[in-house]
Amino acid sequence: MGQIKLQELFVGNSVFKVITENDIKTIYNWRNQDYVRNMMKDSSPIPYKNHQQWFNKIIKNNPLLYFIYYINNRPVGVMNFKIDEKDTKSVEWGFYLGETNLPARTGTKLCSDGIILAKSLDYETITSFVLHKNIKSVKIHENLGFIKYNTDDSCVFYSKDLTK
Ligand SMILES: CC(C)(COP(=O)(O)OP(=O)(O)OC[C@H]1O[C@@H](n2cnc3c(N)ncnc32)[C@H](O)[C@@H]1OP(=O)(O)O)[C@@H](O)C(=O)NCCC(=O)NCCS
Repeated sequence: MGQIKLQELFVGNSVFKVITENDIKTIYNWRNQDYVRNMMKDSSPIPYKNHQQWFNKIIKNNPLLYFIYYINNRPVGVMNFKIDEKDTKSVEWGFYLGETNLPARTGTKLCSDGIILAKSLDYETITSFVLHKNIKSVKIHENLGFIKYNTDDSCVFYSKDLTK
């Protein structure tokens, strides 16, 4: 994939900024919280050493696909995009709020701004899988116009066409 020039994107009072080495501890602490882990396919606690290895790989190989989301200058969560190797216009997104004392609908805002971010990066499709038990995330996807195209025992699979 070619280099993406976008380092940050402002959407109203929010901004997505590409992660840097300075974010390593924040992301570790956020991602390891029970309520975040429990909504991921791999919900086991992450040892710091593994996190360091993963983080350094992300920073080196794919730094432009991991963003910290700030609202009014406060870092509150993460949005990331994994490019589909067979269709480089399609990304699978992942997101979470790392902070807890946030106003209702912050997750919805993160995702609707995330759609603007994906469009700004010229992606045409966002795909996603959501654990059945993740009622909030299911609602977010359905409220934002994602189409359910499959389910299995653990997940619902969604996609959204950004060209329409
Ligand atoms: C998923 C997540 C981003 C949602 O953020 P949030 O700010 O809590 O969610 P919102 O306030 O935007 O609520 C989303 C919807 O869920 C509903 N909701 C909120 N709390 C709920 C509850 N306890 N039970 C049922 N629905 C609930 C809201 O009413 C809203 O639906 P509506 O707009 O139709 O009324 C956040 O909880 C999170 O980061 N979770 C852990 C990681 C994760 O699940 N990531 C996504 C993986 S697919």
